[in-house]
Amino acid sequence: MYPELNPYVVLITGGASGLGLAGAQGFAKQGATIVIVDINESEAKQAALELGSEHLGLACDVADETQVNQVVDTVIQKFGRIDVLVNCAGIADQVKPTVEQDMTHFRRLLDIHLTGSYMMTKACAVQMLKQGKGSVINISSIAGVIGLTYRNAYSAAKAGISMLTRTLGCEWAAAGIRVNAIAPGYILTPLTQSLIDKGRLDKSIVERRTPMGHFGTPKHIADAMLFLASDQAAFITGVTLPVDGGYMSWGAPSDAFDDHP
Ligand SMILES: NC(=O)c1ccc[n+]([C@@H]2O[C@H](COP(=O)([O-])OP(=O)(O)OC[C@H]3O[C@@H](n4cnc5c(N)ncnc54)[C@H](O)[C@@H]3O)[C@@H](O)[C@H]2O)c1
Repeated sequence: MYPELNPYVVLITGGASGLGLAGAQGFAKQGATIVIVDINESEAKQAALELGSEHLGLACDVADETQVNQVVDTVIQKFGRIDVLVNCAGIADQVKPTVEQDMTHFRRLLDIHLTGSYMMTKACAVQMLKQGKGSVINISSIAGVIGLTYRNAYSAAKAGISMLTRTLGCEWAAAGIRVNAIAPGYILTPLTQSLIDKGRLDKSIVERRTPMGHFGTPKHIADAMLFLASDQAAFITGVTLPVDGGYMSWGAPSDAFDDHP
């Protein structure tokens, strides 16, 4: 579909599961070489192996600057370039009243999502600036645009990621590096499935609130990643693209989806 992606080296954080894994599979189908970077080493290696022996799985906590720099050095030593970075590593927020929230979790979430995306982008940009070309794809969320009660750290981190996308997109526009973000709506992944299983997310309420009437699939997000990395998006930088089945466009005071209209 996008032959220009074929020679690319694509580094995907959080690539062992969910949206990152779908992105890894999507880029691999285009012929790209994938580096899956994840805090879960065995799953990162296993996921890379399942893609094929030319791909690599590396352990890294994206919140740790030393580990981030080491991983980027390893990729450059092995492959000599990084064409696409997808910042997809993430954890869920604590869903409880703000006055009961735990500061350790608040800080850890910001460290992974916001600071982690920033540090990984900064490290990869050194190489991309030398290449005069590169594409960074951040994963924001509907939570970074509209207010989701209780999810303070998550929403603030995701709004911050969208702003980083704008500032870095403008800084590097003339240098050939495009920086964009995707704001997924509710997508069925191990993360959202565990929230449903624990009773922290009501599947049918989400379906009724989504104009298209259903959760998205990881492939919906992977398809947006491929598009943003491709030459079809050559004049697109600094944007956050909603991929949410219409969720953020709905403002009427009623359910958005009625299966018996
Ligand atoms: N699933 C959704 O509905 C949805 C919606 C909007 C945004 N997102 C965002 O998409 C991203 C991926 O979510 P997902 O649903 O695929 O979750 P997931 O749990 O399936 O995958 C997340 C991956 O990130 C890894 N990870 C966690 N902490 C890490 C760290 N410190 N360093 C490196 N890797 C780490 C995990 O090991 C896991 O493999 C997250 O940023 C999430 O906030 C998801």
